Amino acid sequence: MSRIAYVNGRYLPLADAGVHIEERGMQFADAVYEVIAVVDGQLADFDAHMDRLAYSLRQVRIDNAPGATALGVAMRQTIARNRIKWGLLYLQIGRGVAKRDHAFPDKVHASVVMTCRPYSYAALAQKMRDGVAVATMPDERWARPDIKSTSLLPNVLAKQTARDEGAFEAWMVDEDGFVTEGSSTTAWIVTDGETLVTRPLSRAILPGITRAIAEELARTDGLIVEERAFTVDEARAAKEAFLTSTSGGPVPVVEIDGQTVGNGMPGLITGRLAALYRVHLASFTKDPDASLKVLSGE
Ligand code: PDD
Repeated sequence: MSRIAYVNGRYLPLADAGVHIEERGMQFADAVYEVIAVVDGQLADFDAHMDRLAYSLRQVRIDNAPGATALGVAMRQTIARNRIKWGLLYLQIGRGVAKRDHAFPDKVHASVVMTCRPYSYAALAQKMRDGVAVATMPDERWARPDIKSTSLLPNVLAKQTARDEGAFEAWMVDEDGFVTEGSSTTAWIVTDGETLVTRPLSRAILPGITRAIAEELARTDGLIVEERAFTVDEARAAKEAFLTSTSGGPVPVVEIDGQTVGNGMPGLITGRLAALYRVHLASFTKDPDASLKVLSGE
């Protein structure tokens, strides 16, 4: 079955799907996006993603995008037409098509595109078993990473630098030596006292949906979460480290710049949080079999 993309109200085979060559998202990265998990055919944490999308749209002043209800209908259609049970939905909203000029064009329609692909639980299960390595490097992004903008070139370069060094993720570091976040994930550590630490929200990081959920799940389970910046040295010496994102929930980090974290094995607190996150995802499933599949992490 060929994959189907949504493009401005139409559902098209991926190979035929495209936007105009003067779409501003393409020319200026004048666009914002969301990635939402599909769990048993359902959109997980839809409202939280729509709230963040609304924030991004407001910040970049794209004011004529469809609302959450209309987007939700198109998203569900995209999921259904691709017959995705477990996957990731990608949504991008660009300012629209206009003759190339930096200033906003008059009277353009926002461009809306969506794709949906199946998610590899096997790959995630492997990461959960083995943990992943991260490589640290300077954060070279623009001053507004809190906006989920498609202008991701520094993130792309950081991720590739990490991969070239044999690491899964890049942890970007600000001028004062504090970790900001991963190139596509939120960064966390666990202290010797078993306190979970992640950077407070500010213009320096994306307000991760998984970050917020993980924080709430951890607190409800009696864990202490401290929102403060941490240095690379503190992360290297931490008891545990992990990262969070929509595409994997909490994933253990066992190596930072070639140095093992803790005993070099995925940490117990990270495992506990990942299990809580699976319970959270299972709440979106419709039947017990699907729920068991999420809970088992297979
Ligand atoms: N990345 N930080 C950055 C820079 C991100 O790009 C992401 C998400 C996160 C985690 O956010 P959330 O928990 O809402 O997924 C943190 C998505 C998955 C991506 O670009 O593919």
